[in-house]
Amino acid sequence: MPQRLPAPTEIEITALIDRHLSLEGPLLPILHAIQERFGHVPANAQPLIAAALNISKAEVHGVVSFYHDFREVPAGRHVVKICRAEACQAMGANALADETLAKLGIAWHGTTANGAVTVEPVYCLGLCACAPAAMVDDRVVGRVDRARMTALLREVGA
Ligand code: FES
Repeated sequence: MPQRLPAPTEIEITALIDRHLSLEGPLLPILHAIQERFGHVPANAQPLIAAALNISKAEVHGVVSFYHDFREVPAGRHVVKICRAEACQAMGANALADETLAKLGIAWHGTTANGAVTVEPVYCLGLCACAPAAMVDDRVVGRVDRARMTALLREVGA
C-alpha cells in the first residue's frame, strides 16, 4: 500500500498562499504551488484560498475541477498520462485508454487498488509524430501500442 503522508496543515497551506498573494491573478500560482508541494490540492486548502482571495469556495473549486492538472486527492506512486488530443486519437489513443483503464479496473484520475498507478488524461505531449503518446511520471513515451502499455504498467507495478 502507498505510504500515506500526513494531511497538510493549515499553517503550511497558509504559508504557501501568503507567498503568492501579492501576484497579479494569484489563484493559479497558489494552486500550482500547493499541488507541487503536496501532490494535490487538499480539500482543507480550498476555503483558506477562498478567504485569502476574497472569492467563494465554489470559485476555487470550479478552477480546481476545470484544470485537469489539479488533483483533489493524492495520486498513486506513479502517474501514467495518456494523450487524448487529436493526433493521438487518430492513432487509436481512445481505444488504448479504454483498454488500459478497463484492465486496471479504474476510471480516469483513478488509482489502482495497490496504490501503484494513477491514470490521467493529457492533451498533447508534443510527440504527435509518434502517436499515440503517453507519459510515465516524467518520461514521455511514443508509439504506445497495447504491448508497450502492458510493459509500462508492469514497470510501475500496476
Ligand atoms: S496529440 Fe498526442 S502528443 Fe500531440
